[in-house]
Amino acid sequence: MKTRKLGNITVSDVGMGCMAFSHGYGKIPTEKYSIEAIENAYSHGCAFFDTAEIYSPNLSGIGHNELIVGKALESVRDKVVIGTKLFLGYSEVRSGSVYDAVRRHLEGSLKRLKTDMADIYYLHRTGGVSVEKVAEAMGRLIDEGFIRGWGLSQVDANVIRRAHSVVPLSAVQNIYSMVERDSEASVIPYCLKNNIGFVPFSPIASGLLSGKITAETRFETVDDVRNWVPQLSRSNIIGNQPIVELLKEYADLKNATPAQISLAWMLHKYPNVVPIPGSKNKERIVENLNASEVELTDEEFSALENSLNKCKVYGHRGFGR
Ligand SMILES: NC(=O)c1ccc[n+]([C@@H]2O[C@H](COP(=O)([O-])OP(=O)(O)OC[C@H]3O[C@@H](n4cnc5c(N)ncnc54)[C@H](OP(=O)(O)O)[C@@H]3O)[C@@H](O)[C@H]2O)c1
Repeated sequence: MKTRKLGNITVSDVGMGCMAFSHGYGKIPTEKYSIEAIENAYSHGCAFFDTAEIYSPNLSGIGHNELIVGKALESVRDKVVIGTKLFLGYSEVRSGSVYDAVRRHLEGSLKRLKTDMADIYYLHRTGGVSVEKVAEAMGRLIDEGFIRGWGLSQVDANVIRRAHSVVPLSAVQNIYSMVERDSEASVIPYCLKNNIGFVPFSPIASGLLSGKITAETRFETVDDVRNWVPQLSRSNIIGNQPIVELLKEYADLKNATPAQISLAWMLHKYPNVVPIPGSKNKERIVENLNASEVELTDEEFSALENSLNKCKVYGHRGFGR
């Protein structure tokens, strides 16, 4: 697969979000299936895997997903880039240093990931702890060789600027897709200018942009984020059909799938963007990785972008939460 840079870290230009093997999209596959799916993605060229300490069934407990990712990638560890994330509560740093707290989280993640170094360590959300202090802690962990780079998730350009001025960021991971474009205003331009990679999460809009979700689709009742993804309410699925139809039109034109076109669109648009589509299904994971091969010409991209800009988007989350 082609490669891109997140800061100074080289990754495949499409990565893989591993969350759904543990959380967020209903019933989870067996551990055996999940490990095989990750191994299969690696053998199809994926060299960038995303996880987080918090990804566990129903978000109860810590580390279910990191354990799977660790087992699946142990034998190829030096050939892949692994990003993981921590949540940091103010209560954890009230009577101790931010560095100590971050390091405690990191040590747990490294153990579960069966590695002695995380490539990208993200603060999952900025909470009550100063981002400058977190940056300092991350800088020390970089100097000590426990992480190669660090990142922030769901942040605006002002927070990025403050953090980046303390210790340079490798990546920012915000929600971004054809129906969630807030980061285009200032986050992505700032990242581009400052050699920061931009890692879109939910790049297929939780499945909407694959064209496989209809107003009749029933989501699962337990641990399924699609029940609250704004674009996936029944009326908004109907409202967003012109965007899905547009993707289908380009999919036919390019002998690709709608999900692949939605990924090819962002790959064409920005050189620092590396999407991490998620799927519980081995075949769809490979389909998404193959978006790397779908090249839109400048003319095709402009026409697609113009048509997209004429479509109203129904439902909005933004990167504020
Ligand atoms: N930083 C954060 O706060 C944050 C938040 C959310 C997610 N993430 C990361 O981002 C990754 C991706 O986000 P996401 O999983 O929420 O959203 P996504 O990649 O936009 O969509 C996942 C959904 O789309 C479906 N899908 C994926 N590819 C498909 C295809 N080719 N055809 C048909 N359906 C397809 C999946 O169904 P199937 O499983 O049935 O294929 C699943 O329901 C996660 O795995 C996680 O690592 C980070």
